[in-house]
Amino acid sequence: MSDKPTILVQLDTDPLPSVFDRVVAVDAGVQHVFSYGGITPQNVMPLVHGCIFTRGGSDLARTAIFIGGSDVAAGEAVLAEVKKHLIPQYGLSVSLMLDPNGANTTAAAAVRAAGRHLDLSTAQSLILGGTGPVGQRVARLLAKAGGHVRVGSRQKERAEAVCAAVRAHIPYAQIEAISVSSSAAAPEALEGRNLIVAAGAAGVVMLPRKLRNGVKSIRVMIDLNGVPPPGIEGVELNDKGVERNGIIRYGALGVGGTKMKIHKSAIAKLFESNNAVLDIEEVYNLALQLP
Ligand SMILES: NC(=O)c1ccc[n+]([C@@H]2O[C@H](COP(=O)([O-])OP(=O)(O)OC[C@H]3O[C@@H](n4cnc5c(N)ncnc54)[C@H](OP(=O)(O)O)[C@@H]3O)[C@@H](O)[C@H]2O)c1
Repeated sequence: MSDKPTILVQLDTDPLPSVFDRVVAVDAGVQHVFSYGGITPQNVMPLVHGCIFTRGGSDLARTAIFIGGSDVAAGEAVLAEVKKHLIPQYGLSVSLMLDPNGANTTAAAAVRAAGRHLDLSTAQSLILGGTGPVGQRVARLLAKAGGHVRVGSRQKERAEAVCAAVRAHIPYAQIEAISVSSSAAAPEALEGRNLIVAAGAAGVVMLPRKLRNGVKSIRVMIDLNGVPPPGIEGVELNDKGVERNGIIRYGALGVGGTKMKIHKSAIAKLFESNNAVLDIEEVYNLALQLP
């Protein structure tokens, strides 16, 4: 067992590396966090070499890379490039985690919550704000579980692009795009849905009460927006599996506590080996193992 200090190399695709991700890393017990912003596939190679050519043998498990930023696609491109510069055949690799804007850890927490109340293999879900980093990951997890997923956006083409990206990973995905550009679209979007996840921008009401009143199929509502007013009217910030009027509700803080546990557990996992790759599926599997 190596006694070298743990180092997390934070590679952020935004110009300023996320303070949130840095704080969580420290709270997860990482001894040193090296933070870099403005990371692209073009400039990342020397940083990866700095990780793999400095320590050897079991010491390499004491270095890990965390990829963040506000753009999921940019983060994915950096992850793909980082993998190209590892040399696992010579043991020269470090563990990797992708969590752009907290998307993987937040989506894992939300879907884990939904799965406590619904059979996700048959769930009929609607994701409002489904084109953002978090919504995209929620869509992927729900589609992987086998249920039918509707991705809402004010611009249907944006939702269609998310559906295509999900299908690229999960060919059997039952997923469709829907326009939610006005309240007139609500009946069609909500029709037959038993799970609603609001992953819209902070402080935006995505589902007013009057639009969902009378939709008998809704069983679970999860609102990830933590900035008032709520993203789903009738879901409180601290709701955590609370049932009111026959609907189970989770608010942003109700999900956020689990998200933090998942995030810290994933960071700890990085230092158990030098070859873990934690993307959405791996993070979700970790989430399912938490008590
Ligand atoms: N609880 C937690 O632990 C936790 C952790 C991380 C994030 N969050 C929250 O999760 C939510 C999703 O995060 P994110 O980063 O994925 O969000 P985001 O990218 O800021 O927004 C998601 C989507 O919301 C839609 N949207 C933006 N402005 C809108 C408006 N004025 N009206 C209607 N729709 C609008 C956009 O979709 P279209 O343009 O396609 O319509 C956008 O793609 C946020 O509220 C964030 O604060 C919570």
